[in-house]
Amino acid sequence: MKLKFFLIGLVLFAVILKGCRKDPEAFGEENDGKYQTTPYVFDQNPAYPPFRLPVDNPLTEEGVMLGRMLFHDPILSVDSTISCASCHKQNKGFTDGLKLSKGVQNQIGTRNSMPLYNLMWHNRLFWDGRALSIRQQVLGPIQAHNEMNMNLFDLMKRLEASPRYKTPFKKAFNADHITPELLSKGLEQFLITMLSFNAPIDKLKGRTDTLNVISESARRGLQLFMQPVENGGADCFHCHSNVPFFGNTSISGSMSNNGLDVAFADKGFGNVTGLETDNGKFRVPSLRNVEFTAPYMHDGRFDNLEEVLDFYSGDIKLTSPNLDINILAHGKQLNLSGQQKQDIIEFLKTLSDTQFINDPKFRSPF
Ligand code: HEC
Ligand code: HEC
Repeated sequence: MKLKFFLIGLVLFAVILKGCRKDPEAFGEENDGKYQTTPYVFDQNPAYPPFRLPVDNPLTEEGVMLGRMLFHDPILSVDSTISCASCHKQNKGFTDGLKLSKGVQNQIGTRNSMPLYNLMWHNRLFWDGRALSIRQQVLGPIQAHNEMNMNLFDLMKRLEASPRYKTPFKKAFNADHITPELLSKGLEQFLITMLSFNAPIDKLKGRTDTLNVISESARRGLQLFMQPVENGGADCFHCHSNVPFFGNTSISGSMSNNGLDVAFADKGFGNVTGLETDNGKFRVPSLRNVEFTAPYMHDGRFDNLEEVLDFYSGDIKLTSPNLDINILAHGKQLNLSGQQKQDIIEFLKTLSDTQFINDPKFRSPF
């Protein structure tokens, strides 16, 4: 008798349990009160360098999706008007097209927005290199008064109260409470997936293969980019090195003064280290997708690539304190011809990854 009741009870319990599961597709499979996560798999691409993934934050489909939601959601800003994507727009290579970024209540920032791609290979983040990891970086803009101006304590309360986030955090991290650490881990996962390796330059199988892939003008530009000044080149490569990034990612070499100013309105890396010898140094940016990311330099002073090339050709401030050794070594203006400047610009355009800036997996999920 007892057994009969027990069995009926068990069936009833199973029915109720099934009824509670509103939509198994949307809610994932629960096991022992825990969600099973699905490891995130990157697309295959022979151009990738060895990956540098965080060991304490393995990428999962659920974590990446959570990060994508957070990235595109203005809920992260104090008045719910600005999301990460407001200043990092996909069609502009994840920059904002402004000289200086505009945060909540139209507050103008002090720097030009940075493109977001291939972030796992940067040892230092931001123009001044002040952050050493993506996870450390992401809480910065949320709290910065001229960006999102949001207090983390209030943000946790807001996310906990939002019906949108309870389940995604649970699914990604099996977490009952939302914490700043999990928020930054979710964003970190999404940011890591933003890989850009489908530019024409990535189709080259070696330097000798250029003939088939890029125009004659771009090939001349590549030569100029790579060759030292003594050999008639423009020697961009010594700073914008580390092919295939065309930016420098090593800690020691990544911060440099390329001679924009004699006196520094923004001390850059000098503000981070407190050393006078670091004043005027900024991160050597990767030049991938540079065609989409105007205006240029840490303060957005140049509106287009023509202006950038005019600067490198004839306006480098050779008396700038802490000027980089790669410029000091030759110590003169490049005086490039109009054709040479155009050739370098043509070459820079071969670093444009249109697939990346149109990829649906980085779009707003809402
Ligand atoms: C108000 C505009 C604005 C908002 C909002 C904003 N950013 Fe940024 N972002 C910038 C600017 C400007 C920089 C460069 C800042 C600097 O160097 O001081 C930057 C830099 C970065 C970098 C460094 C990239 C590199 O290569 O070093 C990352 C990563 C980043 N932002 C991610 C985010 C994320 C994630 C969010 C949302 C949580 C966000 N940003 C919100 C404007 C913004
Ligand atoms: C001495 C090192 C050095 C050399 C040589 C150099 N660059 Fe740069 N480049 C930098 C640094 C550092 C920045 C960022 C400066 C800043 O914003 O203060 C930069 C910025 C840029 C930018 C702007 C990117 C952006 O996202 O805003 C472009 C484009 C660029 N360089 C192209 C070139 C080209 C083309 C050459 C060769 C003619 C060249 N660079 C030579 C160090 C260098």
